[in-house]
Amino acid sequence: MIISIEEAVEKLKQGEVVAIPTETVYGLAALATNENAVRKIFELKKRPLNNPLICHISSPNQLDEYVFLKDYHEPLFKFWPGPLTILFPKKTTIPEIVTGGSPYCGFRIPDHPIALEILRSVEKPIAAPSANPFTKLSPISAEMVRDYFQEKVDVVDGGICHVGIESTVVLFRDESTIEILRPGIFTKEDFESLGYEVIVSNQKKGGETLHSPGLLEKHYLPKIPLILLSKEFLDDFRKVSIIDYSQLLDEIITKNKVLPEKETLRNFLQEKQKMAFIVYGNFPHHDSVFHLSHNENLFEIAKNLYRTLHDLEKNFDGIVAFNVENRGLGFAINDRLRKASSWRINKMT
Ligand code: TXA
Ligand code: MG
Repeated sequence: MIISIEEAVEKLKQGEVVAIPTETVYGLAALATNENAVRKIFELKKRPLNNPLICHISSPNQLDEYVFLKDYHEPLFKFWPGPLTILFPKKTTIPEIVTGGSPYCGFRIPDHPIALEILRSVEKPIAAPSANPFTKLSPISAEMVRDYFQEKVDVVDGGICHVGIESTVVLFRDESTIEILRPGIFTKEDFESLGYEVIVSNQKKGGETLHSPGLLEKHYLPKIPLILLSKEFLDDFRKVSIIDYSQLLDEIITKNKVLPEKETLRNFLQEKQKMAFIVYGNFPHHDSVFHLSHNENLFEIAKNLYRTLHDLEKNFDGIVAFNVENRGLGFAINDRLRKASSWRINKMT
């Protein structure tokens, strides 16, 4: 059911779970200080209990009650309200269940009038992971939340989320070093400009990064397989006619490197024919071509990505997508594309 802001506040205070809009994605919200309410979030999402939730507040003044604050944290507050989650050493006022046993708790102030109004009325931190079942795409509209949970969760409809991908998650390694655990709108360059050293954690390289379950590969899977091609191939598709797309894809598969393996991709393409192509920049219009942005604007691409993937699940057998330039916000977009992909094709050099 779609509910009002007042109804959502009332339900939250009573320990119920409701879905609320934020600028990034919709969140499945509950009072962070109420253990039973938080448990319901994990049950609804079927999320493993060791995968920590982040908390939402309306003002940095609330932090002191829940975490150990240091002076060196403060410069980052200039990105709030906004899509930045900062992990702090937590106090016992945040129940263990929220952080899955981690000594750190993530906090952010969302940049969304409805979320802020709810947070101000509730006056306590609200735990809210993205409002999707575990491993599915994050929802960027009330309809997407309804598709996932039907009558099980009431939703406050705040329209389409204007950022469209999840917040950047960071951890302070020491007073001058920040580790990016999940890339997002705020980038390495943003933190470097404030004088911090920045480490971008990469689970594939192993090492001593903090374990963050959200960084696991295969975390944002659409219901239909996605084939991710490196950016160079986009020009090849631009040059041929739409009727030659499957032939071109076939050639690309033959001549280049496919991960994790070619054989399963070939089998899939033999059985399934109805492929959607998601593109950006200048491209001809066609029933199976979907534009994320007509002028390669990364903010627009981020905003349209999950909605496009979600819409395609209903009408196609598979998706062909292309990486974007790997810098700034492009780094976060490529991260989500990789996590959504079943196969990746890179140009053989
Ligand atoms: O934009 C967002 O961050 C959205 C909106 C609703 O605010 N929320 C969101 O929450 O994306 P969630 O739970 O889907 O993603 C939070 C990520 C997870 O990958 C989680 O593993 C990681 O942050 N995380 C949270 N607390 C952590 C901790 N203490 N240590 C390591 N990773 C943590
Ligand atoms: Mg999530």
